[in-house]
Amino acid sequence: MSSGIFHRGPALAGPQASGDTLESLHQQAHACERCDLYRNATQVVFGEGPMDAPVVMVGEQPGDKEDVAGRPFVGPAGHKLDVCLAEAGIDRSRCYLTNAVKHFKFEERAKRRLHAKPNSGEIQRCAYWLAAELRLIQPRLVVAMGATALTSLLGRNVRVTRDRGKLFATPSGFPVLVTVHPSFLLRLPDPEEARREQSRFVEDLKKALPFFPAP
Ligand code: URA
Repeated sequence: MSSGIFHRGPALAGPQASGDTLESLHQQAHACERCDLYRNATQVVFGEGPMDAPVVMVGEQPGDKEDVAGRPFVGPAGHKLDVCLAEAGIDRSRCYLTNAVKHFKFEERAKRRLHAKPNSGEIQRCAYWLAAELRLIQPRLVVAMGATALTSLLGRNVRVTRDRGKLFATPSGFPVLVTVHPSFLLRLPDPEEARREQSRFVEDLKKALPFFPAP
């Protein structure tokens, strides 16, 4: 993959969070009241993975299972991601997994907590934490999975459907690979289409392979 195809995106929003370890950043995030989502969520769900991870994968926000467990990508979308990472030949434990928004946003219906999409203000406020994670980790590649991650990292000029598989760069210079969110695969009713889309997602993920140093 050539670095000559990098496109520029807008700066990650927000003043700089301090902290020199992911652990200290995570501790600070527990007290986050930058938007209202902390009011109803069980807890903040911070990123997880090695501080020297060459690749950071960014999703949208924690789901119901993640909100309870306090860990990212442990529910159905996380299981789908695990399957696809394995198919792509990527070891999840070598990646840092995080979300654009760190609190679960939901609507309560018939005692069920249904995922609600974060709005642009929530995405922008939470970009403070994502920027801090990236500053500490200094990854070789960031994988933006879905529109919310993309908006947080690159603003609104980049589109998942039009730009998937391409490399962009944040103004701070982090390369960003665009792809779909794994939950998209879970929502496809037609099994044939779901298989086809899963293969496309795996092909996108394989583009991250050159960014891992040889073990
Ligand atoms: N979806 C996400 O975007 N992130 C998670 O952690 C789980 C589901």
